[in-house]
Amino acid sequence: MRLVLLGAPGSGKGTQAKLLMDRKNIPQVSTGDLLRAAVKAGTELGQKAKAAMDAGELVADEIVIGMIRERLAEPDTANGFILDGFPRSIPQAEALDKMLEELGQPLDKGVLIDVAFDSLLKRLTGRRTCADCGQMYNVYFSPPKQEGVCDRCGGEDLQHRADDNEETITNRLEVYQNQTAPLVDYYKAQGKLVSVPGEGDIEEIYTRLTEEL
Ligand code: AP5
Ligand code: MG
Repeated sequence: MRLVLLGAPGSGKGTQAKLLMDRKNIPQVSTGDLLRAAVKAGTELGQKAKAAMDAGELVADEIVIGMIRERLAEPDTANGFILDGFPRSIPQAEALDKMLEELGQPLDKGVLIDVAFDSLLKRLTGRRTCADCGQMYNVYFSPPKQEGVCDRCGGEDLQHRADDNEETITNRLEVYQNQTAPLVDYYKAQGKLVSVPGEGDIEEIYTRLTEEL
């Protein structure tokens, strides 16, 4: 299964991608996660990307397209992948189509996780991520059983993302509307778009999503 997950910041792309990865054994490829790792490691690529990420702007196409090209060359993606946060603009989508055509592995579906903008701010300001295992929580909707401790691995470093502040979130939503939302029509025109209502229980959304696939 070769999927693209589409949806606004906070719509649940990462949450659903992780469930799909754990249960269907398909790797999640998140450009956001790859970029954050590069920033943390202080690589040249990370240094180039940091300012755009802090401002909630898109990182340059050549950087993310290069990252995806490298990642999709790794053997674990041979039987499928879940792209989370890529593509995010029409030029990125066109580059992806070209890349996959060369590999003889066209995309199966573009899945839109559809959430009203009003719900997103709380999801993003309340998000916490375990630094050790990547498990995601939300202080408002899905807190860990014991405050500050990861249910999954017992880690005690639940982090708040630097771009999850109100000012940056406002810009991320605007960038989504202007540059990423047009991908809905792009995949619709290819007959590949599936739209899944993204509000309600996380497990229910997962069920809806897998039923559509
Ligand atoms: P990226 O990391 O991709 O961030 P994003 O698109 O803004 O999306 P998020 O990760 O914030 O949200 P999500 O949809 O994954 O939601 P999640 O599951 O975490 O990108 C970050 C930055 O990197 C960009 O701004 C850009 O600068 C750069 N970048 C990345 N890719 C790029 C590209 N291709 N090109 C250029 N630049 C790029 O859920 C959010 C919260 O909600 C969590 O707390 C979760 O627990 C909670 N939640 C999930 N589902 C539910 C539910 N059903 N009900 C209640 N709460 C829920
Ligand atoms: Mg994410």
